[in-house]
Amino acid sequence: MMTPTGRREMTRTRALAVTSGKGGVGKSTVAVNLAAALVARGERVVLLDADLSLANLDVLLELAPGMNLADVLEGRCGLTEAVRCGPAGLRVVPATQGNPKMSALSHLERAGLIQAFSELGPEIDWLVIDTAAGMTPATLQFCVAAQDVLIVICDEPASLSDACAMVRALKETGRRSRFRILVNMVAAGEDPRATFLRLVDLTDSMAEVSLEYAGSVPYDRTVATAAREGQPVVTAHPDAPVTSAFTKLARDTGRWPLPSTASGQSEFFLENKIHNEVMERRVRI
Ligand SMILES: Nc1ncnc2c1ncn2[C@@H]1O[C@H](COP(=O)(O)OP(=O)(O)O)[C@@H](O)[C@H]1O
Ligand SMILES: [Mg+2]
Repeated sequence: MMTPTGRREMTRTRALAVTSGKGGVGKSTVAVNLAAALVARGERVVLLDADLSLANLDVLLELAPGMNLADVLEGRCGLTEAVRCGPAGLRVVPATQGNPKMSALSHLERAGLIQAFSELGPEIDWLVIDTAAGMTPATLQFCVAAQDVLIVICDEPASLSDACAMVRALKETGRRSRFRILVNMVAAGEDPRATFLRLVDLTDSMAEVSLEYAGSVPYDRTVATAAREGQPVVTAHPDAPVTSAFTKLARDTGRWPLPSTASGQSEFFLENKIHNEVMERRVRI
């Protein structure tokens, strides 16, 4: 990350998982546009398609055919070779559509994949992870391994009750209790904070869970237009209201304090973090 004086700080690569209880609430849209807005701020970003069975970032961003996560897992290439150049300076690691092997990975195989990302640590500031919806073992594992979890909700009872179930499932792993909540597809006249507070009420009985309001994104038809153009809306429609929302989200995201402790054994960029902690201690001594 850049300091105000333009110097690069010690690398502290951060993985941010974008998830939801219910499908269709806008996870992929948020992941793509948050990543593009971070790139526009000069951050080095890789976007990972972690919807292992219904991958769609390659379609959404019209990526040319090439290596993907299945090739990495089956040893045909290293992770660096699976990083593809997308529009707007985005770098993407795509998954595969309808590959049953990908959705049947074991916990250990996924842990290996999470560890493989350490290879990219020195090269990037952010790994933005587009997860599958719901409480699948893969989604829970990716969320637990990421430093930040952003849960996307919209003002529908099913979105809220499924988000609540997701919070409970992640809490029950014993390794995740803090969640950022983004309200998407906000209609004119709707108060997104009220939607957020309804989720807070639903999760109220859960001890030690902390939900933080991460902002809102308006319902905007340019999202669909940009998707048809294979572009992030942020770059295809810079003046759209939805673009300002993603730009604000990218700015705020950089200010979120880093969790100070590791969440467990299988965490993205763990080596990187340990290395930096040792370096920081040396600087202090
Ligand atoms: N803020 C928004 N305004 C308008 N349409 C949106 C918005 N966010 C998402 N969409 C649309 O909603 C649908 C589902 O979004 P998507 O990002 O694929 O959700 P998910 O990844 O959660 O399944 C897509 O057609 C997308 O274009
Ligand atoms: Mg999706």
